[in-house]
Amino acid sequence: MLRTHTCGELNISHLGQTVTLCGWVQKSRDLGGTTFIDVRDRYGLTQLVLNTDSDAALRDTGRKLGREFVVKVTGNVLERTNKNPKIPTGDIEIAVEALEILNEAKIPPFLIEDETDGGEELRAKYRYLDLRRNPIRNNLMLRHKMAQEVRKYLDGLDFIEVETPVLIKSTPEGARDFVVPSRMNQGEFYALPQSPQTFKQLLMVSGFDRYFQIVKCFRDEDLRADRQPEFTQIDCEMSFIEQEDILNIFEGMARHLFKTVKGVELDEFPRMQYADAMRLYGSDKPDVRFGMQFVELNDTVKGKGFGVFDNAELVVGINAKGAASYTRKQLDELTEWLKRPQIGATGLIYMRHNDDGSLKSSVDKFYNEEELQKWSAAFDTKPGDLVLVLAGLTDKVRKQLNELRLEMGSRLGLRSKDVFAPLWVLDFPLLEFDEESGRYHAMHHPFTSPKPEDITMLDTNPGAVRANAYDMVINGIEVGGGSIRIYDRELQSLMFKHLGFTPEEAQKQFGFLMDAFEFGAPPHGGIAFGFDRLCSIFAGLDSIRDVMAFPKNNSGRDVMIDAPATISEAQLQELSIKTIV
Ligand code: AMO
Repeated sequence: MLRTHTCGELNISHLGQTVTLCGWVQKSRDLGGTTFIDVRDRYGLTQLVLNTDSDAALRDTGRKLGREFVVKVTGNVLERTNKNPKIPTGDIEIAVEALEILNEAKIPPFLIEDETDGGEELRAKYRYLDLRRNPIRNNLMLRHKMAQEVRKYLDGLDFIEVETPVLIKSTPEGARDFVVPSRMNQGEFYALPQSPQTFKQLLMVSGFDRYFQIVKCFRDEDLRADRQPEFTQIDCEMSFIEQEDILNIFEGMARHLFKTVKGVELDEFPRMQYADAMRLYGSDKPDVRFGMQFVELNDTVKGKGFGVFDNAELVVGINAKGAASYTRKQLDELTEWLKRPQIGATGLIYMRHNDDGSLKSSVDKFYNEEELQKWSAAFDTKPGDLVLVLAGLTDKVRKQLNELRLEMGSRLGLRSKDVFAPLWVLDFPLLEFDEESGRYHAMHHPFTSPKPEDITMLDTNPGAVRANAYDMVINGIEVGGGSIRIYDRELQSLMFKHLGFTPEEAQKQFGFLMDAFEFGAPPHGGIAFGFDRLCSIFAGLDSIRDVMAFPKNNSGRDVMIDAPATISEAQLQELSIKTIV
């Protein structure tokens, strides 16, 4: 080892020892005769003192030092006169006897300190420098700890970690695939897995019984704060289980992580039907850190001559408690915010419950005090409350009110990052109608089993068939999802038929799985967690980017290595690919 200690471990107990440290120069202050240098490594920061008056060699080397130079120093641990209680090494400093520059460094493009002056793009380009900063490094250390705890928990329950292939076959379901041309099989392509779904099911057919994998998945979809084109799943599958077993074991995993990594003891996770989540929150991933549940008003408000309500499929609102002080201007701004194309509401109707007990709405012309009392009763308003109401087509208006609820929750300070509100959402619909293609798609994936009692509705009312599918949601973020699987060839074929596959297409795409079902497939089911999302919730971040070492930007680019990039004509030829410009 080049060093005896790290830059984060020395304290009063080491006084008088001669130590050798290696690290990066964070700062150097020349006070004439004495130079103070902060040297940093992964473990912390230690102050060095160079007595440059008495040692010419030290003075010369000290003068050459710049930010981020890599150094090796040997010296004596002394007690500081000017202690720094903010850092663990703040009681001591090293009186340097020997200083060696291991490598020089150019002036870094931004400050490598907790608070940096570097913009996003610049930091992404020099990600390896950004990773030297504590906040980012701490995120990766947290991620490491979480991965270890996941392995401990699952290993303790006899789960086996198995690697599945990364070069697989493109399938038409789900998001778009990233594809990889094959040189040895010209004109043919591999696809990168969107998840190891079919492989983990095959492992169940193989008898592995309990499988997991912390695994990269790839999806060519539009990016958002919680979506990256390559991301990591904690992917799990089990045989001879029922839905209840999966919920218990993986709720246990989440609880184990919160306890061991964050020191947070969570109560049993509440469970909610998908249909209730949509009705009460307008979302399949409700943020239940706060209430503000939807109240439907059709029966209360229709038939009073107000066209907007009378013509609406659904009139629905929320009670933003304590927001009655919102001014007309603020409400106009909120209305404009709702009317933006991203949300697309046509307008906002409100009712204030004033401090003096009076009720005042934006539609007083149609609703007198007596009518408004009914609103007040429906929302259980108290003086100081503000009722916000939207009207329109059910699905649209629920989505819009979901956005408004989350916005009001944020504005009213109800979404603290230190509060963790987990939830299971159960009984998702099996199928979802896609307007664009004019057909049903699997809401989760085509291998999800319908609820047995709903199977007969596949022909008559496919949209109403419920699935044995579940999501784990924490603070309004879908952190995991899974299902009990089909393990019978007949039922799987029926599913493909309902998804618009001809028997030939189904055989071509998924014949391997249906064939496997004929060789003794056990009943099985599983779940996959978005590991990056879990980490970002633990780290209190809004985006998953900074829990990843080398993430992509919003356009799916890695600006550091400059990917994606063109390839040479020779490579293209070898793959027999013609470029179209
Ligand atoms: P699903 O598609 O729901 O299920 O994915 C599981 C979890 O992965 C996370 N996730 C993402 N995280 C970051 N970036 C993305 N682009 C991204 N897409 C998904 C989410 C999600 O809950 N094979 C099934 C699981 C199963 O049935 O067992 C699957 O992949 O947190």
